[in-house]
Amino acid sequence: MTRKRVAVLISGRGSNMAALIEAAKDPAYPAEIALVVSNRPDAGGLMTAKANGIATVVIDHTVYGKDRAAFERAIQAELESHRIDIVCLAGFMRLLTPWFIDRWPHKLLNIHPALLPAFKGLDTHKRAIEAGAKVHGATVHFVVPEMDSGPIIIQGAVSVRNDDTSDALAKRVLGVEHAIYPQALKLVAEGRVTVADGRCLIDGKPVPDPGTLRPSA
Ligand code: GRF
Repeated sequence: MTRKRVAVLISGRGSNMAALIEAAKDPAYPAEIALVVSNRPDAGGLMTAKANGIATVVIDHTVYGKDRAAFERAIQAELESHRIDIVCLAGFMRLLTPWFIDRWPHKLLNIHPALLPAFKGLDTHKRAIEAGAKVHGATVHFVVPEMDSGPIIIQGAVSVRNDDTSDALAKRVLGVEHAIYPQALKLVAEGRVTVADGRCLIDGKPVPDPGTLRPSA
């Protein structure tokens, strides 16, 4: 088995990146984390990546000013020079343009802390509580130019408690994120995910019904 070479793009603490690194320590896992890219020099995740012996690169978006194309060309050049096969966004807080996204068809993944298409954007946990949502969770999806859209690969759900705070809910959702992102990357790295009519198929079949997932208490 040739393991796919994966780059993880981060902006902050990188706990999802760490979950992918841990999963990839299993020699049977079909992907290796070959590169971590941060747009922020102070991202905590850079230390974690280095401690795990993973190549890191900082491409500071502030250096490029408003020139998003130049910023993305710099990222693309690093990905190419590291012979990357799959790119995972993990708390990467820059919107990517169609130019970049088009370079990674069905090879560019993102994790979002909500059950998409509900609660796109920021502050998802607070908004879920304020909306009275009873179920909340996380989604791994392929990236398309529209933010927090794109074919859904895996979702994981948690119950929202009556006395939940956004911090408490965020913590439980983060646990789900760390479980589902490695699963999604595994499926993509194994070449088992296809897209038809904007929806993912796994082994040619619809993604398993999230209703079959047992929400954590
Ligand atoms: C996660 O909640 C992720 O879903 C969102 O940003 C957060 C990043 O956390 N896109 P981390 O950097 O992976 O710890």
